[in-house]
Amino acid sequence: MQSNDFSRIFIGRNRINLDRVASTNDYLKAELSKSKPLPEGTVIMAVEQFAGRGQVGTRWESQKGKNLTVSILLSPYFLKPSNQFDLNIAISLAIQAVLSTLLTEKVFIKWPNDIYVGNKKVGGILIENIIQGNTWKYAIIGIGLNVNQSEFPENAPNASSLIKLLHESYSIEKLLTEICSGIEHRYFQLKHGEHEQKRLYCEALFGIHEKRMFKINGILVEGTIVDVDDNGQLVVDFDGHLAKFAFKEIEYVI
Ligand code: BTN
Repeated sequence: MQSNDFSRIFIGRNRINLDRVASTNDYLKAELSKSKPLPEGTVIMAVEQFAGRGQVGTRWESQKGKNLTVSILLSPYFLKPSNQFDLNIAISLAIQAVLSTLLTEKVFIKWPNDIYVGNKKVGGILIENIIQGNTWKYAIIGIGLNVNQSEFPENAPNASSLIKLLHESYSIEKLLTEICSGIEHRYFQLKHGEHEQKRLYCEALFGIHEKRMFKINGILVEGTIVDVDDNGQLVVDFDGHLAKFAFKEIEYVI
């Protein structure tokens, strides 16, 4: 079903609602290969995903109708492909800010883009890019937020949701409107060359400036996150020696 009555200015003006789909990211990617391109800001929302995808080949499990599972089409042609992490910052910040207005607990971004409350993950982001030559044609922003699901599988002991934190249900539709508006705000800032987002991202970073345990190549080490560099690498201080890590090269021990 396709509807165009979503009252946003840009993100969500074109919206496709699906009852059941493998993955909203995959659906959006397939639509992009068709002859009539979708407009930037298109939102694909699913009631149920039967093969939802998470970071680095993981599965994203979400109970039917309980959570926000959505993909947003952006066209960040104004950014160099080498600045991909800036978009990750903008999206993570937008989601972290929306959840911060709803919850009394502090909401963190766990590097690179997990959304955490306390020691629990309430949401994740999967950004997939289509780059042609030196132009960033499209970014597919997949967002999964746990909203009204109160039971999680045993293999996800770190998961939480808005209903568990608020002790009442929250409207998925309302949340989507808030998320779209927040992303639109940060995305326009990015387009107009705003440089404060990196600082805000670091302020919201889970565990920054705290001595904690990490696992690197299976070995436990103690270190302190001090920064994230412009390429999105995590900068960790080990007793005065700084080291940088790409995604999956270092694991938090929570
Ligand atoms: C992660 O934390 O591993 C990222 C999870 C991203 C899940 C969302 S749900 C909507 C979109 N479609 C997908 O298949 N994945 C993303």
